[in-house]
Amino acid sequence: MLVKKQIIINHYMKDFSIFCKETNEKAAKLAVELGIRLIDHGECSTRFVIKFVEDLITLLDTKENLEIELSFNGQIASLRTKNLNSENLIKALGKIDLNTKIYDLTAGLGRDALIMALKGYRVVMIEKHPVLYVLLKNAHQNLLSDYPDIYSRIEVVNADSACFIQDIKMEDNPIFYLDPMFPKRAKSAKVKKEMQVLQNICDLSDNAEDLLKLAVSKGKTVLKRPKLAGELSGLKYHHVISGTKISFFVFERS
Ligand SMILES: C[S@@+](CC[C@H](N)C(=O)[O-])C[C@H]1O[C@@H](n2cnc3c(N)ncnc32)[C@H](O)[C@@H]1O
Repeated sequence: MLVKKQIIINHYMKDFSIFCKETNEKAAKLAVELGIRLIDHGECSTRFVIKFVEDLITLLDTKENLEIELSFNGQIASLRTKNLNSENLIKALGKIDLNTKIYDLTAGLGRDALIMALKGYRVVMIEKHPVLYVLLKNAHQNLLSDYPDIYSRIEVVNADSACFIQDIKMEDNPIFYLDPMFPKRAKSAKVKKEMQVLQNICDLSDNAEDLLKLAVSKGKTVLKRPKLAGELSGLKYHHVISGTKISFFVFERS
């Protein structure tokens, strides 16, 4: 399978810089890879700032004064108090072999993918936004010492899933998972700060419908949608599992 080693740089990078007080090789390397400025003191003039503090990387939206930190280690502690079998996401995946690979085509902050990995599945997190990829990669790396088993079940890839999916071996019966960005609604209650930052940095005009059709043509696919939004493409789904706010549509291979 072709795994892209080089970070995809997109036009959004002009809005980003990296801030790090101490000399930090990782930060310096990333600045070169992303082609953005590394600042070690004073104010950053870009809207978004990737901040390095020792092992932690955070993302600051200076306009909204929102800062998010991505730590899988922290999330695992609270996820472990839940019965994952009662999560609708896990119910939607159905009965699958633990060796089945699940491709999260829209990894975002990796929350859903982490639940799947914690349940014992092998998960490939595919994220096209270079900064989200960096946050995911760092959160994944930090799993290694405390949770080597979970670490080993996860891969993080920086790619456009519509391209990446072409190289996946279908004889292994992979499962695809899709949680497309949902446009901000003026009247909706304030979403969580993580989702707000995601909405501010991501391209909301992504063609999720095409990605869904592509995924369904290749294998079993689970689509997550706000309950009120309904299904996305008009494709025939096999069944749907709904909670109070979220629905998971399950499609069998077309
Ligand atoms: C709503 S978020 C997903 C949130 C995720 N389920 C979670 O638990 O954190 C959607 C993400 O999909 C990414 N995305 C959209 N289209 C993509 C594509 N074609 N390839 C890879 N990533 C994509 C966006 O950059 C965004 O980060």
